Order: sequence, then structure tokens, then C-alpha cells
Amino acid sequence: MVIDYSVTGKTKLLGLIGNPVEHSISPQLHNSLSKILGLDLIYVPLRVDKEDLETLVKALKATEFVGFNVTVPYKREIMKFLDGNTKEAILMGSVNTVKKIDGRLYGYNTDGEGFLRAFKEAAGTDFKGKKVVMLGAGGAARPIAVKIALEGAEKISLVNRTTQKSVELAEVVNENIAEIVQVYNFEDKTLKLAFEESDIIINTTSVGMSPDIDNSLISDTSYFNGQIVYDIIYNPVKTKFLADAESRGCKIINGLGMLFYQGINAYEIWTGVKISEEILRDLYN
Ligand code: ATR
Repeated sequence: MVIDYSVTGKTKLLGLIGNPVEHSISPQLHNSLSKILGLDLIYVPLRVDKEDLETLVKALKATEFVGFNVTVPYKREIMKFLDGNTKEAILMGSVNTVKKIDGRLYGYNTDGEGFLRAFKEAAGTDFKGKKVVMLGAGGAARPIAVKIALEGAEKISLVNRTTQKSVELAEVVNENIAEIVQVYNFEDKTLKLAFEESDIIINTTSVGMSPDIDNSLISDTSYFNGQIVYDIIYNPVKTKFLADAESRGCKIINGLGMLFYQGINAYEIWTGVKISEEILRDLYN
């Protein structure tokens, strides 16, 4: 018999709560990190139905879990079952990372930080004093808008199909961080001006995601003109939105880096270990 020593009675646990979770790359990322760093941790997928969410959270609190990730559709729902949430997570209205500290569960959001870290690395600049156009006002948009505002952006032009959602998101930022968000709809005559004066354009919607790869929310490619253009979609790695932007001289960034860094950040929160640049490079390539 070959004995497997990789999981022992002392092994501590990490996991991913969501529904579905089967497609997630988080188990591979976090288990690779534990192996590289020699930490006795194992990360497991935990698919759960909504009516069992509270029971699962109680079970994770009662057992040897160091922490866990939370994904769709529970990033908001989870907050009420935790003992506390960071100020930033409360502003973002969502938690994707939970850490157990002295037996209590605390919620964090690393999506915004992951977005920012990936942006800074790829773009070689930050959001201070920048004019930004953001497409979308859904669950993915809020952490990004909050983070950009906290980073000192000068203006966010927020465009969404459903105005009620963009107005709500604008209120969160304007009332709690800085009065920088202006709401547009796609038919607004002044939208083109907002694009023209912008330094950075971000798509936070699912439009253009596989299998919908021939679609882009911006059909008039003259809206792109040398800006930095970021699409949080990573499948495909180059959406139509990014391909159009690139053809107009824009620097383009896809969602792979955000996905990677939200995970790295979560792991750093759980373990207190700062992942070195060398390990990051090895993992990412
Ligand atoms: P997520 O958590 O990924 O942000 P979501 O909360 O459902 O998902 O939000 C999806 C975003 O994509 C929203 O901004 C949505 O616009 P609405 O608020 O009007 O629904 C946007 N979106 C999705 N499909 C769209 C489409 N065909 N045209 C325009 N916007 C679309």
C-alpha cells in the first residue's frame, strides 16, 4: 500500500462557498500556493444551496477552517452570517473572502484590490486624478467603483442599461467616498464626450463573455482613442470590446490578472504570508 502523507490529522482547511463552484480555478491556485510555501493547508470546493448557507457557515466556524472564499450568488448574502465585515467590504456590499480570527468570522473583499493590483501591474499607472468610464452597475461593478473612488479618481462616468442600478451605485460612491460619479445611459448624446475625455475605460458587464463573443456594448469604435481599456472578462482573453479598443491604439487589459490577484490577496489575508514576486511570476506564467 502506498501511503499518502499530503493530508494528515493536523491539516487545516480552506474552501470555496458558492453555486456553482465546479468551474472555479481557485482550488488549483490555493493548493499550489500551499505546496510551494510548504503550508499544511488544503482548499476544497463547497457547493451549497441557498437554504443551507447559514448551516454551512456555522459548520465552517465550528471546524478547522482557517477561512474561505465566497463566490456567486452569495457574496452579499454571506455578510449577515459573519461576526464582522471590513469597512471596505461594507461599502462594496460584498464579501469574497472570510477569515477566522479567534473563532470569529470576518468578511473581506479582495475583488477591488485584485482589480487594482492587476491594473497597476499591466498599465504601469494608478487611478489618482484619472477620468474613468465604467460600463455596468451589477455585482462586479460595485467593488471596482468603490476601489477606484478610494484611489482618488477625479471622475467616474457610469453607464448602465438599467438606470436605477447605476443611480444606486453612484449614490454609494458619491455619499460615502467622493462626489465623482455621473450617471449616463447608452443613448446619451454626451456619452461620447465622456469617452473622449477619459483616461481609462472599464467593462464590468458580462457582454462579450463566451459564448457571446461577437458582442460588445460599444458598437461605435471611434469611442476608443488611445485610452487604457480594461475588460474584467477573461474568457475569451480578448473580447470584441478589447479587440476594437486595440485597433484604435488603446492599451488593453483582460480579466485574468484580476482573477489571479483576488485569489493571491485572499491567501495573503488567511496566512499572513506576503507572496513573493518570484512565486507570483512562476504561478502566473
Ligand atoms: P455581475 O455580478 O457579473 O455584475 P449582474 O449583477 O447580473 O452580474 O450584472 C451584469 C451587468 O451586465 C449589469 O450591469 C447588466 O446591466 P443591467 O443592470 O441593465 O442588467 C449588464 N448587462 C448584462 N447583459 C447586458 C446587455 N445585453 N446589455 C447591456 N447590459 C447588460
